[in-house]
Amino acid sequence: MIIDRKKVSIISTDKNIVDVAKRNKIALPAPCYLSNRVNGCCKVCIVVIN
Ligand code: FES
Repeated sequence: MIIDRKKVSIISTDKNIVDVAKRNKIALPAPCYLSNRVNGCCKVCIVVIN
């Protein structure tokens, strides 16, 4: 997978793209995932997959 032009790997403990980005030190805005809000409510982490 490539995020922001950086090739990253996915491992079995990654639950979603936010985990992949965080583990690879890539800043991915995800306010409700990283806080106590209901996951999926802000839509900031929506990405385009090519
Ligand atoms: S962080 Fe993904 S929808 Fe809010």
